[in-house]
Amino acid sequence: MLRKNTILIIDFGSQYSMLIARRIREMGVYCRICVLDDSKKNISRDLPQGIILSGSPDSVVKKDYQGSYNFIFESGVPILGICYGMHVISLHFHGKSITSNRKEFGRAELLIHRQCSLTQGIYDYLDDLGNSILQVWMSHSDIIADIPKDFQNFASTKNCRYAIIGNEKRRLYGVQFHPEVTHTNQGRRILSQFVINICKCKSTWKLDRSISHIVQRIRNRVKNDQVILAFSGGIDSLVTAILIHQAIGKNLFCVFVDTGLLRHNELNRVSKYSSKFDFNLIVVSAKNRFFIALRGIHSPEKKRMIVGKLFTEIFNEQARIRKNVRWFAQGTICPDIIESQSQNKKNIKSHHNVGGLIGLSRSLKLLEPIKNLFKDEVQEIAKKFGLSNRIIYGHPFPGPGMSIRILGEVKERYCEIVRKVDYIFTEELLESKLYDKVSQAFAVFIPVKSVGIMGDNRRYEWIVSLRAVKTDDFMTADWVYLPRKLLEKVSNRIINEVESISRVVYDISSKPPSTIEWE
Ligand code: XMP
Repeated sequence: MLRKNTILIIDFGSQYSMLIARRIREMGVYCRICVLDDSKKNISRDLPQGIILSGSPDSVVKKDYQGSYNFIFESGVPILGICYGMHVISLHFHGKSITSNRKEFGRAELLIHRQCSLTQGIYDYLDDLGNSILQVWMSHSDIIADIPKDFQNFASTKNCRYAIIGNEKRRLYGVQFHPEVTHTNQGRRILSQFVINICKCKSTWKLDRSISHIVQRIRNRVKNDQVILAFSGGIDSLVTAILIHQAIGKNLFCVFVDTGLLRHNELNRVSKYSSKFDFNLIVVSAKNRFFIALRGIHSPEKKRMIVGKLFTEIFNEQARIRKNVRWFAQGTICPDIIESQSQNKKNIKSHHNVGGLIGLSRSLKLLEPIKNLFKDEVQEIAKKFGLSNRIIYGHPFPGPGMSIRILGEVKERYCEIVRKVDYIFTEELLESKLYDKVSQAFAVFIPVKSVGIMGDNRRYEWIVSLRAVKTDDFMTADWVYLPRKLLEKVSNRIINEVESISRVVYDISSKPPSTIEWE
């Protein structure tokens, strides 16, 4: 049966599948994501009005490439393949893909040499010959060497001859770049061409993110049970707390774990908000447990897992103390899931609030009331609750805290140092009114000694790095060009106010290829 105004995303394991869904959701069109294994059933049960084939960390050039996807192409609906998805389409129709020795990662200029329905009238600028030029975002090693017979080539980049291909009659399109990523300037418009103009979906769907709807859903699920919430005091857990509190009042226990890995003054902030909203706040002092567990551990993933495991242990203990606790709640949002999803994916990092909850008592059910929302949607709700701009637009702080901002082994002393540096950096960003202009800024402790001089004395002390990035969705990010005056002041303050630092460096790497956090 045809499911009107619905797009199906077949997920080949791309970290961006949720972002594609997000873009379609923004258009007001309903979309489902399903993994390849479920897609045959999914298509035969509910035929969508269009199909998008996602990217993938895999390569179609590999020997074990399966590629028998007749059911997708027999559906007869328009299909858009993104990156790997484009190769799937091309190979199905007997095109040829190869691994290129000129890989493309990052921004690229795309020249449209023939317009098609996907790019009709869309360009960033026109070159001297009147050709449409688009800035797109690439992430691939495979390229198409020969396109299928009935396909046309519409666009190229310097390193990729076939960057947009298609068969207009059959409404099949492939793009080598990622239109779902904000670094492709016109990505939204290109996706919209496919969804609205080619698939003819109507913008009728609206995400129900109304507060009363979420609160009612929590009430229906939880009933009279008690809930413990992993409460860090950041916007996600705060909004989650307010929503659950509205639903079940004093049956909610907000558990704040003092890990010793936190930023300056974190507990004070959390206490302030808790009394404002009248939460049951439980503060667990667990510094020693964390430092002991992290002793001698160097691997970033192990550190994440240890921190996650300890968190889980503590929440289990807190649940056990209270007899009626049946639920464990956390402020997971959509991007957390995107970056952590290990199903069919190469795990980039295990975000502890998703990946590390292994070991959570089986008697606890998971409550994640905002897990389908993206950051700006959570911010919208936070505004309605009257939260301050500092909370709403505050820089995110990762669950494993300073443990992933201290390279290698975590020591309490390193933690104190990086906390002070982080505080100075933040204070100066606020003072210079630049805090809101960057998406995330922090300090990283590098446990390597370097020579310096202070007064007449030689110093042989540690290095810290400052990092500031600008991003829309934290999936890709650019380093920020901070004013020299500010950097100078921050550096001076750090050297003068924080003992044991002899050198301050500034991180000028973007994501990708780097990630935002250093570990
Ligand atoms: P990366 O380093 O993966 O970071 O580019 C993207 C965003 O995610 C945050 N981050 C985490 N948040 N638990 C969290 O709650 C984690 O384990 C974690 N690791 C990274 C990071 O601070 C940035 O905002």
